[in-house]
Amino acid sequence: MRIGILGITGLLGNALKHELLKRGYEFIGVARSNADVCFDITSNKDLEDFVREYKFDVIINTCAIVNHSLCDNNPEAAYCTNARPNALLANLSKELSFKFVFISTDGYFCGDRDCKHDESSEVKLLNEYAKTKFAGECFTLTNPNSLVIRTNIVGFKGAEQPTFLEWVINSLKNKEKMTLFDDYYTSSITVTQFSKALFDLLPQNPTGILNLASSEVFSKAKFINCLSDVLELPLIEPKIGSVSQLVSKRADSLGLNVSKAESLLGYKLPDLEAVIKQIKEEYDEIC
Ligand SMILES: NC(=O)c1ccc[n+]([C@@H]2O[C@H](COP(=O)([O-])OP(=O)(O)OC[C@H]3O[C@@H](n4cnc5c(N)ncnc54)[C@H](OP(=O)(O)O)[C@@H]3O)[C@@H](O)[C@H]2O)c1
Repeated sequence: MRIGILGITGLLGNALKHELLKRGYEFIGVARSNADVCFDITSNKDLEDFVREYKFDVIINTCAIVNHSLCDNNPEAAYCTNARPNALLANLSKELSFKFVFISTDGYFCGDRDCKHDESSEVKLLNEYAKTKFAGECFTLTNPNSLVIRTNIVGFKGAEQPTFLEWVINSLKNKEKMTLFDDYYTSSITVTQFSKALFDLLPQNPTGILNLASSEVFSKAKFINCLSDVLELPLIEPKIGSVSQLVSKRADSLGLNVSKAESLLGYKLPDLEAVIKQIKEEYDEIC
């Protein structure tokens, strides 16, 4: 099996790489720098040449502009990165018969708090990030054999720009006064847990849209409270805030129903306690 990972230097790409190394699969990673093969996936020619040259069995596209403000301020760039390459990849996957997997988002649902949304729940496209990711899903599904994964991920990246998880832990360590959103719900899973589940799923050749996330939906406030308890980094005078305070418009009820993935996997996906436990193990390794 030869697997192509587009976006291998990112939060998720790096975790996929570690899982592939563990399993002994052959893979080739792409990013604009520091990857096995370096190019910009917005170049049709470079992307097509790459796909044709390596004869992949599976290509997983994790590339995205994930910063919501950047997407809102540069909708064209967001479209060219988050959406358009998936049209080319879907066409090539039909012609060359590789499995195409597009990593999408959960940022499509609002107003129903900790509701678990399944793969057919109605989506609301509130910002350019959601619009371009959804367009990416539509392009991907022009090949009915492709797979769109909706998720919400957390993890350690160790890059200059901290991830959400790294920002929370740094704020706790520095005893900063934090504002916790109790009206912003997700079913976040660690990238390590996600990567294991994804490669457990692929042999079953799932197609269409599939939710792959924690089995529990929780508010960001609850997530940070649990993290603070388990890492023994106390919250200092926390304030409760609202996701509506953020500059860019966001969906607020991102919970995913993962029962379809669980029945394919034959095991339960991690709940909040298991997600926090995994974060603690990785945190202890880093420290
Ligand atoms: N992080 C989250 O909270 C979250 C939640 C839900 C869904 N997702 C989805 O999960 C996926 C992975 O997210 P992530 O957090 O791992 O993102 P990330 O850390 O920002 O990584 C993105 C990766 O894509 C590469 N990339 C970006 N633009 C590129 C381009 N034009 N050409 C080639 N490579 C490019 C980046 O490398 P270079 O910049 O060096 O090229 C990097 O390797 C994304 O599709 C995202 O929409 C993320």
